[in-house]
Amino acid sequence: MPVYVVLLGPPGAGKGTQAGIVAKATGLVHISSGDLFREHIKNQTDLGKQVDAILKRGDLVPDDVTIAMIRERLTQPDCANGAILDGFPRTPAQAEALNGMLAEFGGKVDVVPYIQVEQAELIDRLSGRWVCRAHGHVYNATSNPPKTAGVCDLDGSELYQRDDDKRETVEKRIRVYFEQTAPLIEHYRGEGRLVDINGAQEIAQVTEDLLKALPEQAK
Ligand code: AP5
Repeated sequence: MPVYVVLLGPPGAGKGTQAGIVAKATGLVHISSGDLFREHIKNQTDLGKQVDAILKRGDLVPDDVTIAMIRERLTQPDCANGAILDGFPRTPAQAEALNGMLAEFGGKVDVVPYIQVEQAELIDRLSGRWVCRAHGHVYNATSNPPKTAGVCDLDGSELYQRDDDKRETVEKRIRVYFEQTAPLIEHYRGEGRLVDINGAQEIAQVTEDLLKALPEQAK
């Protein structure tokens, strides 16, 4: 039976960082809705053109568009054993759509690790974030610097700062998160799927806590 993990947490909590590490450790596929949108924007697809301004503003992409993109990704063969979802669902309508999709694939949301970090720390982290152009590997100028400034340790590609990591857009994204996504915390807690994770620890310690939260068949 496939295993589906939903990583919840505000912008900058470390969802992408942890999903990448946990995917390597478990063999589950890492699906980031934000990375998928950025890939479409980079390739100037119709979807990319439709969502570019929305990401730059820090707003959410409409549910129907987002749900269709995730459904398409989850039906690909590499997801047969399940996935770690990073950034999806982000609204109650997306959560409901996800339940329907996973039921079709013979699965369910198995666990929802909720990575918590204080707001001031989120802003600091995002203003120091650098991302690699080739594969989206994530660094931080202070907490996780690359060996050579501006160059990805893993694939040698150039590092850049995201358009939506400007301070005013970061503040907007955090507001949007509390208004539209935070209600999912109590929803999943009520279903008994939520596991609280302290995200204000060293990256390796957060990973250790996350791995403990996964169902046995994913370990
Ligand atoms: P998305 O790309 O999902 O952005 P986000 O949720 O705002 O999350 P981030 O990627 O900013 O943060 P993260 O938690 O992954 O942190 P990271 O690991 O990078 O979405 C972007 C946009 O796409 C949205 O605004 C929206 O427009 C659209 N979108 C996406 N999904 C959507 C959906 N479902 N519906 C509608 N619209 C959607 O870490 C951050 C920094 O902290 C890094 O520098 C990292 O090195 C550092 N760091 C990580 N862990 C630690 C640690 N433990 N200690 C110190 N530093 C750390």
